[in-house]
Amino acid sequence: MESVYLRDITDDDLPQRVAWVNDPNTGGHMNFKGTVTLETTKKWFETVKNNSQKYHKIIVDTESGKSIGIIGLSETDFENKSTNYYIAIGDLDFRSRGISKAVIEMLFDHVFNTLKLNRIYTCIDKDNRVSIGMHARVGFLTEGVLRQHLIKNGKYIDRMMVSILAEDYFELKK
Ligand SMILES: CC(C)(COP(=O)(O)OP(=O)(O)OC[C@H]1O[C@@H](n2cnc3c(N)ncnc32)[C@H](O)[C@@H]1OP(=O)(O)O)[C@@H](O)C(=O)NCCC(=O)NCCS
Repeated sequence: MESVYLRDITDDDLPQRVAWVNDPNTGGHMNFKGTVTLETTKKWFETVKNNSQKYHKIIVDTESGKSIGIIGLSETDFENKSTNYYIAIGDLDFRSRGISKAVIEMLFDHVFNTLKLNRIYTCIDKDNRVSIGMHARVGFLTEGVLRQHLIKNGKYIDRMMVSILAEDYFELKK
């Protein structure tokens, strides 16, 4: 099993985050609104960096110390105990090694044990086979399909809504 850890994002990570978000292999499978530039990312970071309710991390490979991806909570609804999350292994050399599973375990622990929320959800492009398989393996269930939910490169994209509840997580941990 690969060893990775999560650390807080710093200003120095922003150019790498922008590069990953704008890489068709990475951000191309995600849903970032508008054009993401270093300027817009710096503005975004100012709004989250000293906010203890926000959670945006860099995934680090323990052996090399290399930053290899991002994970975070994009919208948390504390009233309804529900949160949207994102993940990307931006460094392609670190894909298909089971790293996302290890990192999502860390996210689950934070969301269900520390924040004591009830639900984590995300949307996956219907043609993102790798992400759909990975989410199923770690315990997310499909809630439904959001039909023609986005336009990417001039084409309508269906998206799958997947989620995991606290009760699912604690059952899987038994
Ligand atoms: C989706 C994503 C996060 C998955 O990350 P990952 O760490 O590479 O995922 P995994 O390693 O768990 O699984 C990927 C593949 O590697 C395989 N794999 C996992 N561990 C492995 C190992 N130790 N040896 C060989 N193969 C392995 C898995 O079976 C899977 O193959 P499959 O799709 O043919 O079943 C990554 O592909 C990514 O960043 N994609 C772009 C952004 C994105 O789509 N984000 C999610 C949006 S919802």
